[in-house]
Amino acid sequence: MQKYVFPEGFLWGAAASATQTEGAANEGGKGKNIWDHWYEIEPDRFYQDVGPSETSDFYHHYKEDIKRMKDINMNSFRTSISWSRLLPDGVNINQEAVDFYNQVIDELLKNDVTPIINLYHFDMPFHLQEIEGWENREVVESFAYYAKTAFHLFGDRVKRWTTFNEPIVPVEMGYLNDFHYPCVVDMKRAVTVAYHTMLASAMAIGEYRNMNQDGEIGIILNLTPSYPRSQDEADLKAAEIADLFFNRSFLDPSVLGEYPVELIQLLKEHDLLPQTFDGDHALIKENIVDFLGVNYYQPRRVKKKETPVDDSHGILPTHFFDSYIWPERRMNPHRGWEIYEKGVYDIAINIRDNYNNIPWYVAENGMGVSDEERFMDDSNMIQDDYRIEFYQEHLKWLHKGIEEGSNCFGYHVWTFMDNWSWLNAYKNRYGFYRVDINNQKRYLKKSGYWFKEVVERNGL
Ligand code: GAL
Repeated sequence: MQKYVFPEGFLWGAAASATQTEGAANEGGKGKNIWDHWYEIEPDRFYQDVGPSETSDFYHHYKEDIKRMKDINMNSFRTSISWSRLLPDGVNINQEAVDFYNQVIDELLKNDVTPIINLYHFDMPFHLQEIEGWENREVVESFAYYAKTAFHLFGDRVKRWTTFNEPIVPVEMGYLNDFHYPCVVDMKRAVTVAYHTMLASAMAIGEYRNMNQDGEIGIILNLTPSYPRSQDEADLKAAEIADLFFNRSFLDPSVLGEYPVELIQLLKEHDLLPQTFDGDHALIKENIVDFLGVNYYQPRRVKKKETPVDDSHGILPTHFFDSYIWPERRMNPHRGWEIYEKGVYDIAINIRDNYNNIPWYVAENGMGVSDEERFMDDSNMIQDDYRIEFYQEHLKWLHKGIEEGSNCFGYHVWTFMDNWSWLNAYKNRYGFYRVDINNQKRYLKKSGYWFKEVVERNGL
């Protein structure tokens, strides 16, 4: 007896991104992005010194890989266009990139896999980073030009677009922590980066609307719910602030067309407001998204600030709260992240109640596992029962959210085949297919086989 049936036409699939899968970083006329550059100057920042140049070589294997998607019944796939591949100098179109993306899109459609195409996944072209990347307002215009070019080239076949994947991540990792290039730790600059990213998203949406293509455009956010340690006022406040910085900073303007007043107030109090111009407000107001993609991996648990404030870098979000370890938490021991399936339900209800019940889908959910070859059996299949269980439990909670009226239209896992995870490179594996990076061979994992049946039944 099947207990969890999903709505008709539900999207089942997986997500990936250009830099993490394509490889061929120095081929096909691609320009450099910040990852290519950073790897050149600091290769030891990457796990086992593995950089972005080869990754999973989707550039050369896309045909067989798309066939593999079809083999496990995926009906949709999200990936991104590499901005620096399409427009190596920012202006002139690279025909080899156009050919590549055309072939990928056509091949997906031929195999009944609906493409969802994202424009930006952490991969700033290096020549734009040299003029300060998102800190420079000119880059907002450059992005809008890139977006328009992509809609023009591929919009006849791509009917679902997203502007950004997890736009808060480059802010958090690149401007609040020394984790991603350009490794700046400065909240004022981080706020400007976030603000310009938001303007870029709105401007790209505006371009899309002007072109009257009969598709939809959205944004993908990592909505990590902030759970307070207790119901004490100070803990609640801490969670509210974490939520303002890390979720609502993009969620509210993207869906409601306005920044939360509490966020503006908080930034103002600390002299962190970015420079704004006439017309910004209207730009954001008029260009809200049609749908939302939500990435969910783990919750954020917070308590009031109890540890001493380190102000060596001036004010930072961590001055307002501490992270909290919930004694009852369950961990993914192979990655060090908490597993909390109910989070996906809480997200569903939050969108239903506070964000106009906008159509949304789970755009990434997944379980990273290090040294996964230890679970490989004699037939070269990874027996990833832990991952099947992880998906199942999240799907049950998602189903409950849908039953209760949340407007969710799909579930994508991270990811289709093992790929390159930024600093962690190939340390943690997430795919339905294992990738042997020494010879680029792919092997179906048990979870891929399980997924095939889930799609067949449209549920569990
Ligand atoms: C997400 C990100 C992906 C991928 C994933 C797993 O935050 O969007 O690019 O790296 O984490 O690590």
